[in-house]
Amino acid sequence: MELIFATNNRNKAEEIQQMLPDTIRVLTLKDVGIEQDIPERQSTLEGNASEKAHFIYERYGRDCFADDTGLEVAALGGAPGVYSARYAGSDKDPQANMDKVLEQLKGEDNRRACFRTVISMILEGEEMFFEGVVEGRLLREKKGDAGFGYDPIFLPEGSSLTFAQMSMEEKNRISHRSRAIMKLANYLRQYSQHL
Ligand code: IMP
Repeated sequence: MELIFATNNRNKAEEIQQMLPDTIRVLTLKDVGIEQDIPERQSTLEGNASEKAHFIYERYGRDCFADDTGLEVAALGGAPGVYSARYAGSDKDPQANMDKVLEQLKGEDNRRACFRTVISMILEGEEMFFEGVVEGRLLREKKGDAGFGYDPIFLPEGSSLTFAQMSMEEKNRISHRSRAIMKLANYLRQYSQHL
């Protein structure tokens, strides 16, 4: 069975492939020769993931899935959320994005935040969603230089290290993305037994 993942990020696709049974093959957009930009115009993570999956399904009629992730900060009413990648501008600069969040939280004691990943999968024409959340809080300064995005300011609950101070394995054990992928993988494992 083949599933198209609406991404060109080989690493993301590989990470998911490793969690799935051998009978399921994850293909990237490049693998299947899709070169168009996939639209992400919605105002929620669910909306964007769904829009990307539908884009593939409606054009190619193939089983597929898409993901979207955001950092949701309680004191900012859930921002940057769906706008996480370009919070400080269209050049998607992670340092500027973190600086903007830290500036907005200056003097704020409520540091609660979470990362949330939503996956939309369309299988035999039916759409379903999987969600992964990791709760935590935001520091007042950046710590660590591994990872990407907002990792240096995010301290996951129960940890004394930020995501940027962890190895990739440590982060993957608890991350929002892994949690969503795990749910997708569990579903597909059961589904593939009935094929
Ligand atoms: P995407 O949907 O995976 O492309 O994520 C959108 C944006 O959310 C990224 O550009 C990052 O700014 C942020 N983000 C997503 N996942 C992570 C993470 O694991 N650590 C830090 N930032 C993340």
